[in-house]
Amino acid sequence: MPTKIEKDSISGQETTGHEWDGIKELNTPLPRWWLYTFYACIAFSLVYVILYPAIPSFSSHTPGVLGYNSRVELEGQLAEARARQAESWDAIAAAELSEIRSNADNLTFALAGGAAAFADNCAPCHGQGGAGRPGFPVLADDAWIWGGSLDDIHITLLHGIRNGGDEARDSEMPAYADILEPEQIEAVADYVLSLSGAEHDGTSAAAGQEVYAENCAACHGDAGEGLRELGGPRLNDQIWLYGGSRDEIVSQIRQPRLGVMPGWQERLDASTIKMLTVYVHSLGGGEE
Ligand code: HEC
Ligand code: HEC
Repeated sequence: MPTKIEKDSISGQETTGHEWDGIKELNTPLPRWWLYTFYACIAFSLVYVILYPAIPSFSSHTPGVLGYNSRVELEGQLAEARARQAESWDAIAAAELSEIRSNADNLTFALAGGAAAFADNCAPCHGQGGAGRPGFPVLADDAWIWGGSLDDIHITLLHGIRNGGDEARDSEMPAYADILEPEQIEAVADYVLSLSGAEHDGTSAAAGQEVYAENCAACHGDAGEGLRELGGPRLNDQIWLYGGSRDEIVSQIRQPRLGVMPGWQERLDASTIKMLTVYVHSLGGGEE
C-alpha cells in the first residue's frame, strides 16, 4: 500500500498515510497531559521499585534500599502492645480478687479480658453474656446454685462441677425412679409446683409434702429455698435449670440430669480465671 502523508482538507490535520477503500486515518497524537502523566507513572514506579520491597521471586522479593517492611512494622507494634499489657497482667496476677474489683485499672482490664475468655470458653454452654440455656444456668442473674460471691465463683471455675475431679463441686440427686412409687413421684412433683405458686393439683401436693420432707428437703431446703453446700437449686422461685413444667419436673425427679462443668484450672492460666471470676461476678448477680 503506498503511504502518502497529506493534510486532511476538513480537519486540517495530517493523515498517517494509511488508506482503506478511500477512508484515510488521521494522525491524532495522544494529549500531552495524558502522555506526561503516563511518563510520570513510569518514573514513579521505577523509584518505588528501588526504594521499597517490590519484585517477587520464588522464595522472597527485592527488599528495596529503604529496608521498609510492613510485617516488621506490625511485629514492632505487637511487641509494644504486649509490653504495655504485661504490666496489667502482672497486676492481675498479684492482686486478690477483691483488689481487682476495687482498683479501676485492674477492673477495666479484667472485665475486657474476662469477656473475651468467656466468649471463647463459656458461651458455648452458658450462652452469650451468660444468658443461660436449658441445663446451663444463667450467670447474669442473682440466682446461684453454688454461690455468687467472688470466692464461690472462683472455686466453681477452678474445679468445675461433677467432673470427677477431687476438688470439683459434687453432689448427686438420686434417681427416684428406683426409690419412690410412681404415685409418690407425681405427688412430690405437685408439691414442688406448689412451692413456687405454679398451677398444681392440691390433693396430690398435700400427699407430696411428706415425700418431700423425707427425701428432698435435705438438699433443697425445708421450704425449697435451696442449699448451696449441696448444690441443691432453689425450687420455690420461677427459675428453672431444666424447665418448670410438670413433665419436666417429673422427669428430673425420676432421672436427674446431673449437669457437668469442666474445671478450668488445667486449661486456663490463673490470671485468666481471676478475670473470668470478676467478669461473671459483674454480670448482674455478684454477691458480697
Ligand atoms: C460443657 C459446658 C460448660 C462449660 C463450657 C462451662 N460451664 Fe459453667 N456450668 C455448666 C453446668 C452444666 C453448670 C451447672 C451444674 C449444676 O450445678 O447442675 C455450670 C455452672 C456454672 C457456675 C455455677 C452457677 C451457680 O449458680 O452457682 C458458674 C459460675 C459457671 N458455670 C461459670 C462458667 C464459666 C465462667 C465458664 C467458662 C470458663 C463455664 N462455666 C463453662 C456447664 C458448663
Ligand atoms: C443429694 C441431694 C439432692 C436430693 C436428695 C434431691 N435433689 Fe433435686 N437436685 C439436686 C441437685 C444437685 C440438682 C441439680 C443438679 C442436676 O441434676 O444437674 C437438683 C435438681 C432438682 C430439680 C431441677 C431444678 C431446676 O431448676 O430445674 C428438681 C425439680 C428437683 N431437684 C427436685 C427434687 C425432688 C422432688 C427431690 C426429692 C424427691 C430431690 N430433688 C432430691 C440435689 C438433690
